[in-house]
Amino acid sequence: MLKRKSLYTILALVSFGIIVYASYFNFIHDPQAEAFLSHKEGLKRPLQLPLWLNVMYVHVVFACVTLVSGLLNFSSQLLKSNRQLHRVNGYIYVVSVFMVALTSGYMAPYSTGGKASSIAFNMLNIIWPFMNGMAIISIRKKRLLQHRKWMIRSFAYCFTNTLIHLITYVMHKGFGFAYVSSYTISIYCSLIILPILAEVVIRTTLPRSEQAVQMK
Ligand code: HEM
Repeated sequence: MLKRKSLYTILALVSFGIIVYASYFNFIHDPQAEAFLSHKEGLKRPLQLPLWLNVMYVHVVFACVTLVSGLLNFSSQLLKSNRQLHRVNGYIYVVSVFMVALTSGYMAPYSTGGKASSIAFNMLNIIWPFMNGMAIISIRKKRLLQHRKWMIRSFAYCFTNTLIHLITYVMHKGFGFAYVSSYTISIYCSLIILPILAEVVIRTTLPRSEQAVQMK
């Protein structure tokens, strides 16, 4: 129980940090995304900057909503006190994930690193909503443990952007790899590392059997 509470506090602090940083950086510090776009070279399709920027803003807003609504729904207090709010908030999460994936689908063909990065992003665009679909199917079948597992797997992908930038930074600044290759590799690493972390959280915080969850 203590383990679960400390993990929740850590995730809440990290998410708060991401939301503040992403909002400040993308809407105040560098609203034209000059730093990020400076790494794009040899794009197959010309990027329409005003449209790309607007899509990116929508992407960031919904990404922040996924973090808030996801976190809220992991609160057992909220679940116990207001099931209806948990349900409504759950649908807000699902719609927000869909919006992040949709905007990501627009940006993927222009992504830094070209086709290799685009493929990785589009894999995420399929896997992430799929996880939400599995979470909804499980809860409709009253399989609480499965529902929680799928939501943990899904929520892990809310940290995709942070992990991509973290790995890119370490590879580029720490080990001297070219920025573009570091970025592409970091997308694939995130695709693999985040579900592994989710499985670690599942194994360390959830009971093993469906009956044990029902009894709680
Ligand atoms: C929920 C947390 C997320 C946040 C806060 C976030 C934020 C951002 C931001 C600020 C950008 C602009 C460039 C940058 O600074 O990275 C961006 C780009 C992008 N994001 Fe996200 N994102 C998140 C999750 C995702 C997920 C899960 C996907 C895939 C399903 C995704 C796909 C993309 C794509 C394709 C781009 C364009 C990359 C490029 O042009 O190279 N993002 N995101």
